[in-house]
Amino acid sequence: MKKMACAVLAGLFLLPASACARPVEPDAYAAGPAEIPVDILGELDEETLEDLVEEPRYVALTFDDGPRADTTARLLDGLLERGAAATFFVIGEQIPGNEALLRRMRSEGHQIGNHTYSHVRLLKAEKDAVVEEVHKAETLLREAVGEGSFWLRPPYGLIGAERAGLIKTPMIYWSVDPEDWKLLNKEKVVSAVLSAVQPGDIILLHDFYSTSVDAALEIVDRLQEDGYAFVTVEELFRIQEEEPQAGVLYARPDRRRELS
Ligand code: NI
Repeated sequence: MKKMACAVLAGLFLLPASACARPVEPDAYAAGPAEIPVDILGELDEETLEDLVEEPRYVALTFDDGPRADTTARLLDGLLERGAAATFFVIGEQIPGNEALLRRMRSEGHQIGNHTYSHVRLLKAEKDAVVEEVHKAETLLREAVGEGSFWLRPPYGLIGAERAGLIKTPMIYWSVDPEDWKLLNKEKVVSAVLSAVQPGDIILLHDFYSTSVDAALEIVDRLQEDGYAFVTVEELFRIQEEEPQAGVLYARPDRRRELS
């Protein structure tokens, strides 16, 4: 539900104000737009009415290269406050000492993915090294948060067809890349994302940078006002009824990325 519509309903005492800040429940989208009783609709102006009956738009924020104690924790605080879910592709060697952050991600409804153990270029790595890099990070993830399928984001988005055959999970590329690591500027990152984003997109950011955390939270605020809901990549596939395949690199659930 739109933040504004939610605020309107809360204003009419039809919803508790706290309902506007809750994370999206996994089943919330299955029911489609909420049904609004006709007698209530009669009291709302036309624009608000459109907001209420409009199909929700979903988008996935993804964060690479963490976790990093200070920036990732601040990001999690901000996402929780806004009821937004995200996906974190973490680097294995940064897990020791940050296990509590990973457990927090999971308990707050975020998806955790694998970004290899030491951020290697899988395109040129030996086959054994590819398997080891993925496996080592996966083992640390399991130790930190328990069982799960940790989807892979190859560092730099690069992996060849032959190496992809070794990967036992879906692989996630992105469809919106503001190059936050290069811009290191909140306003520029926000406008790069807002000018490009479409429903169903996967946005690439890095929770390693403080400016990217600031940008991410502003992006959530602006897009929520515009009717977007933030879900994990896994949820985005479920919403679009796309079955993700192991060893396939996706730019979005409905778009595969050709392997190099
Ligand atoms: Ni990376």
